[in-house]
Amino acid sequence: MTAEDPLAALTRRFTALDPLLPAAQDPPPGRLLTARLADGTRVRSVVTDTRTDPATAQALWSALRVWELHPVLPDGVASGPALHALIEKWRPLIRTTQEDSSATVTWPSRDVEATRVLLDHGFTPLCVLAVRGAMPIERVEAVDVDVRPATEDDLDDLVRLALAETAYSAQVGGTVVRPNAERIKRETIGTHLGQGDLVLVAERGGEAVGLAECWLNESVPGSWAETRLPHGRWGYVNCLSVAPGARDAGVGRTLMAAAHHELRIKGAERMFLYFNPPNPLSSVFWARQGYRPLWTIWEIRPAAALR
Ligand SMILES: CC(C)(COP(=O)(O)OP(=O)(O)OC[C@H]1O[C@@H](n2cnc3c(N)ncnc32)[C@H](O)[C@@H]1OP(=O)(O)O)[C@@H](O)C(=O)NCCC(=O)NCCS
Repeated sequence: MTAEDPLAALTRRFTALDPLLPAAQDPPPGRLLTARLADGTRVRSVVTDTRTDPATAQALWSALRVWELHPVLPDGVASGPALHALIEKWRPLIRTTQEDSSATVTWPSRDVEATRVLLDHGFTPLCVLAVRGAMPIERVEAVDVDVRPATEDDLDDLVRLALAETAYSAQVGGTVVRPNAERIKRETIGTHLGQGDLVLVAERGGEAVGLAECWLNESVPGSWAETRLPHGRWGYVNCLSVAPGARDAGVGRTLMAAAHHELRIKGAERMFLYFNPPNPLSSVFWARQGYRPLWTIWEIRPAAALR
């Protein structure tokens, strides 16, 4: 009898949990870590140890050193004891006093048995990847705001608005306001404008009060996206920001109605984004926009706090 492909068994687990999860993919290259459960079953995972350059955009939402556990749990094995056993084996491998570090596990949001175990080990559900299926676009009653595609001339306003989002998100999640945040935002938004991605600006009385920065993401074989999303063309919302004094007046909803419309014209029926569950504004906002958690990114900072 040949041993079953572990990815096929992991895919069956995912499918049973949530119909929007993609087929399981190989974990990234790393160190194989296995654990034996009380009934003798052996479960496996891959652990990675990654360093992030503080000069890059990734450093605005990531710790500078990240240990990550990638469990490969077949269906039929309860996730609670399996994750517990793997974390127990993983903890002694994380030897660091680096403050700017994290231990992370990305796991399907609907696996609440795993949730219990991850909470007990000290992880926080700092971020979710949320998806919006094919559904009607919201009709927004007329609000006193104009939405238009941004141009290079808007760059100062776009950077100001993006940094307002960074500052807010740093209080409620894993975002870090690094000293070079302004330069990074200027460069990345400039790049997205230059390559024709969907960058929308909302104006009220001639003043820029909101930004939606989006692009298309193709989940195709071999892409990063297929590890998180079923194959197909997805609209991705990278940043939505409304100026502090203009919030709760319909600007965000107006921007997203326009963004969803434009992304659909470009061929994306389904959308995804990341948000922080502790964000009291966006957690409500995105649920009302039709987004729901697919993956939860569990984190402990610093990594040595894993218990
Ligand atoms: C999240 C954000 C973009 C929403 O934009 P907005 O213009 O304030 O939102 P809207 O006025 O269009 O409100 C839409 C919904 O958001 C929620 N919301 C808005 N302000 C809220 C508040 N002060 N408290 C609770 N919920 C609020 C409500 O559900 C509201 O719907 P309702 O008016 O029907 O109840 C904006 O609050 C913001 O920039 N926040 C800081 C940055 C941020 O969190 N960005 C998103 C990161 S993922």
